[in-house]
Amino acid sequence: MGEKLLWKKYKDYFPVGAAISYDKISRYDKLLDNFNSISAENEFKFERIHPEEDVYDFEKSDIIVEYALKKGKQLRGHTFVWHNQNPEWLFLPQNCQREKMLKILESHIGTVMDRYRDSVRYWDVVNEIFDDSDDAVLRKTQWSEIIGADYVERAFCIAHEANPNAELYINEYNLEIPGKLDRALSYLEELKKKEIPVTGLGIQGHYSIFFPGMDMIKAMFEKLAKLDMKIQITELDVSVFQFQDERKDILTPTDEMLSRQAEYYRNVFSILKEYSEIISGVTLWGVADDYTWLDDYPVVGRKNWPLLFDETFRAKKAFNAIMEI
Ligand code: GLA
Repeated sequence: MGEKLLWKKYKDYFPVGAAISYDKISRYDKLLDNFNSISAENEFKFERIHPEEDVYDFEKSDIIVEYALKKGKQLRGHTFVWHNQNPEWLFLPQNCQREKMLKILESHIGTVMDRYRDSVRYWDVVNEIFDDSDDAVLRKTQWSEIIGADYVERAFCIAHEANPNAELYINEYNLEIPGKLDRALSYLEELKKKEIPVTGLGIQGHYSIFFPGMDMIKAMFEKLAKLDMKIQITELDVSVFQFQDERKDILTPTDEMLSRQAEYYRNVFSILKEYSEIISGVTLWGVADDYTWLDDYPVVGRKNWPLLFDETFRAKKAFNAIMEI
């Protein structure tokens, strides 16, 4: 049987990546041959890499970076500025003023980017900055409250200064929803006008077989194509449940779920191929169904099967579907 690897199948279009944790590298070693890009699920996040003001902990991020380098895979760094997974010290009262917080950000971004200057090419400088309602463009967070509305601009300038060769991204979810997308696009146009060094936009891509529909995904890419920025899919997975479905009694996925999922992945990858000129990477948020964040989100204890390999590491219908197109 000839070996069929996912990244080879898409090598003329975009790199294909997977998010992993440092402690699952050996478990997934063989399956990871399918991917030529790696994201760290948590190891680059603020609370992990910078647990105290004067302490950086690179032990686990180094493990991931060394693995990727050894295997010749590129790396995405995720993420600097986010409203979640921050260490407690960060927002203590003595840090809650603009100049102090900018200094912290400068030293955080500078230190991390410097360490991985030659290994990490893409960075999610900010994550989930857009508001879901039409009351505001930017989400109100501690970052925006303390630094001010220009915190995103500042973060990009700091990152660009730290490494002018790195590609710098805004990472976001739900941009398939037209209102949020339109607000995000006008904001990005503003950043462009101001010559803020943003390379592109990351689309998280946490989908389900029910939502969003292909018409929505296609319409999103149609608009993104006019933006003239690079686009990456950064956290793709396809849940087999409706978002709020409370059923926890399903212990193995039904054939129907798996077939619909295969169809969904096939359609998504067809669209991605079609727009590959603007797409500089596609990353799955996990490797195999034995471990996924969706087992506990948004319904705690609801087993899910959103990835391309099953719990015993066999290729699923979804994998075969995207290898066929
Ligand atoms: C968001 C974040 C990721 C990760 C997922 C859940 O999408 O960007 O880092 O935390 O949620 O695993």
